[in-house]
Amino acid sequence: MEKMQLKDKKFTLSISAEEIQLAVKEIANKINHDFKNKSAPVFVSILNGSFMFTADLLKRIEAQCEITFLKLASYEGTGSSGNVKRLIGLNESLQGRNVIVLEDIVDTGITLEQIIKEIDKFKPESLKVATLLFKPEAYQKNIGLDYIGMEIPNRFIVGYGLDYDGLGRNLPDIYALAGE
Ligand code: IMP
Ligand code: MG
Repeated sequence: MEKMQLKDKKFTLSISAEEIQLAVKEIANKINHDFKNKSAPVFVSILNGSFMFTADLLKRIEAQCEITFLKLASYEGTGSSGNVKRLIGLNESLQGRNVIVLEDIVDTGITLEQIIKEIDKFKPESLKVATLLFKPEAYQKNIGLDYIGMEIPNRFIVGYGLDYDGLGRNLPDIYALAGE
């Protein structure tokens, strides 16, 4: 499918499932190499967007490892700013562990910075970040990204876990907003 529509927006094919799988494989190879002689890493997958990337990546990880999931939720109740999110699901200690955060996409980096801050409080042995996609033009932070699957232009995309208004996460390919 070259073109598709979600609600009011039209999208065109941008990154094929094959290209995505190649990028996932490259990240897995690097992690397998880097963690060969280290104690079992714990992957921290950021929901919802990272679920597909996480599943495909973890099938390629050779080391013994653990996986846990975090979700960013908007604050509820009065006075909550639309942008401030809180992290839920971080209830096991990551102290002394080799932690690898899994993100679908790093855009401005605001989300990632918050996640890193929270995980750092647990004093992990090491903390690395793996992101399938990275928009360098949009990035506003200085946090180093240890594993990047693909650098992409600053366009809105959907598919392979990423959504437009909740839709499109199931698509095996990635689509970009048409006319951007
Ligand atoms: P950041 O905080 O600006 O880096 O944005 C991170 C989050 O915004 C990601 O985890 C995604 O959920 C979402 N996001 C960023 N860019 C896109 C996009 O192009 N399509 C869909 N979601 C996106
Ligand atoms: Mg999202």
